[in-house]
Amino acid sequence: MKIHRRGMLAGSVALLHGAMARAQTPASIASGQLWPDDRGLHINAHGGGVLHHQGRYWWYGEHKVAGDAGNRAQVGVHVYSSADLMHWRDEGICLSVSHQPGDDLEAGCILERPKVLFDPQSKRFVMWFHLELKGQGYASARAGVAVAEQPQGPFTYLRSARVNPGVWPINATPEDCQAGTKLARDFSGGQMCRDMTLFVDDDGRAYHIYASEDNQTLQIAELAPDLTRHSGRYARILPGLANEAPALFKHDGRYFLIASGTTGWAPNPARLYVADNLFGPWQAHGNPVRGTPEQMATTFGGQSTFILPIKTANGTQRLIFMADIWQPKNAIDGRYIWLPIDWEDGLPVLRWTKGWTP
Ligand code: GAL
Repeated sequence: MKIHRRGMLAGSVALLHGAMARAQTPASIASGQLWPDDRGLHINAHGGGVLHHQGRYWWYGEHKVAGDAGNRAQVGVHVYSSADLMHWRDEGICLSVSHQPGDDLEAGCILERPKVLFDPQSKRFVMWFHLELKGQGYASARAGVAVAEQPQGPFTYLRSARVNPGVWPINATPEDCQAGTKLARDFSGGQMCRDMTLFVDDDGRAYHIYASEDNQTLQIAELAPDLTRHSGRYARILPGLANEAPALFKHDGRYFLIASGTTGWAPNPARLYVADNLFGPWQAHGNPVRGTPEQMATTFGGQSTFILPIKTANGTQRLIFMADIWQPKNAIDGRYIWLPIDWEDGLPVLRWTKGWTP
């Protein structure tokens, strides 16, 4: 089933939403609430990221269906576009799962945390995502890649694999490379990729940041210039600290990473790390959440997915922290947290902000 065309999509989404009411598009960002698109349907783009391209924002995320089945990919990656970050137009499914048994993207696989970059050279849009082959739980731990000529897709699946097989990270110590470590175990087959994001530095180089080594260590791998492959330069960061849900941004020349701990769909306290160099060393700065003990313990009930930099009219950078409130029993009902990042003593902090406008 190809459901890129908007008419067909509206029908299937309405069905999947079941009793979920149609609502008015909000005039402000209200985290944790239903967030209606231009059709009045709750936006279906979980674990997502936003690409700013030629004056429009493109929000890509996991399309989830109702119930537990929604924790696996039954439809594909959904994309919405907006000029103001509040009103989102449904642009349809931009990467569809396959209905061919044995295909990498066979319906029922796990396809999570898609992120998209624009390649100015080829003028193509490149999507990376975390892929688990159907029926294998979370054992595959692959990075998937797809490309498109337009931001709304359709994206063509290129391949999926583990990361940088046969290459040691630039910061590996002799002990890291000894038999018995997870890094050495995965050396020949490639490093595991689970929760992931993408980041483009000021010099145009792009990086893939992903939970690796059984979710114990994040890795950050440079992408090749065409963005569809890894260059082979990569580093282990924050080894053994079990970070996932990485979201990364740069501000005033420094790099900031917000991540979560590893408690599956259940929320846990966010963690903030800062570095002068992407490949480290990274410094821990505790929990960036400011609020009640409950809000600090659960990151407002959510888990980070992306940090969107926006330029204001006077040229300064504002940052939007994006997170997911997962609903694993009824995946389609997952909610979004979007909060403006504040600064305190040179460090980013997150406060619950009700009904704000970017
Ligand atoms: C979370 C992860 C999600 C999903 C989930 C499955 O920790 O961030 O993307 O993989 O686990 O349990």
